[in-house]
Amino acid sequence: MQAQPPHLQKFTPVARLLHWLMGFLWLAVWIIGYAAANWREALNPGHGLTAAHKALAATLLFLIVIRVFWRLTHPAPALPDSMTPLMKRAAHWGHFLLYAVALIALPVSGWMWSSVADKPIMVLWLFQLPPLVDPNPAYYVLAKQVHIWLAWITGALVLGHILLALKHYFIDRDGVMESMLPRHGKEK
Ligand code: HEM
Ligand code: HEM
Repeated sequence: MQAQPPHLQKFTPVARLLHWLMGFLWLAVWIIGYAAANWREALNPGHGLTAAHKALAATLLFLIVIRVFWRLTHPAPALPDSMTPLMKRAAHWGHFLLYAVALIALPVSGWMWSSVADKPIMVLWLFQLPPLVDPNPAYYVLAKQVHIWLAWITGALVLGHILLALKHYFIDRDGVMESMLPRHGKEK
């Protein structure tokens, strides 16, 4: 078997910064949302966690605009030739779904839920996000179910993404993880 070069081309520094900033923010928001909804008595009696969940999650709506603009103007590095064409296609579709569902549809569904429920969303406790639609109690349950379903579907998607990234790093050692990591001292 032919050895792969240890390092592929990297994502740009801006793309890496946005990936890790939004990635860790996304994970924190998921955990806070879960805790707010499911450990209400113990952790969320005054709805402080719900407010934190929304205040942090709302920033993703702004960051994704910058990120999509950056991605469209700065292509991702090529995947290694050790990956089959099928795996490469699967990786591209997986990343597309992460953008479309985890980073766009999920926060928009939360925005929609709070809008129909007539509940405010603060962006980092600084200013209020305008409602997406008029309040409408008839759609409350649907909006809630959509947000919860999307949260669990994307939770599984992100878990798969992280496990595959770790497989690239520890098993395949093909430079894919390094393409998203900070620059290492001995690299050019
Ligand atoms: C503007 C954006 C968002 C708003 C307004 C919003 C709103 C909410 C609200 C009101 C709840 C219920 C909390 C409670 O019952 O106290 C909730 C639950 C939840 N949210 Fe969000 N959310 C947003 C974005 C996100 C994002 C980006 C994620 C994932 C990273 C997420 C994941 C969750 C999860 C996992 C739950 C708990 C679901 C359950 O098991 O019941 N939300 N969200
Ligand atoms: C914290 C654990 C995470 C690790 C180790 C990780 C690792 C990686 C790596 C190595 C890549 C480059 C893969 C490639 O080019 O094939 C990548 C891309 C990507 N990651 Fe993550 N990631 C993590 C969390 C997340 C989270 C939580 C999200 C979003 C919810 C996310 C969204 C994305 C997206 C959308 C891409 C595609 C980038 C592009 O092509 O523009 N990642 N990740």
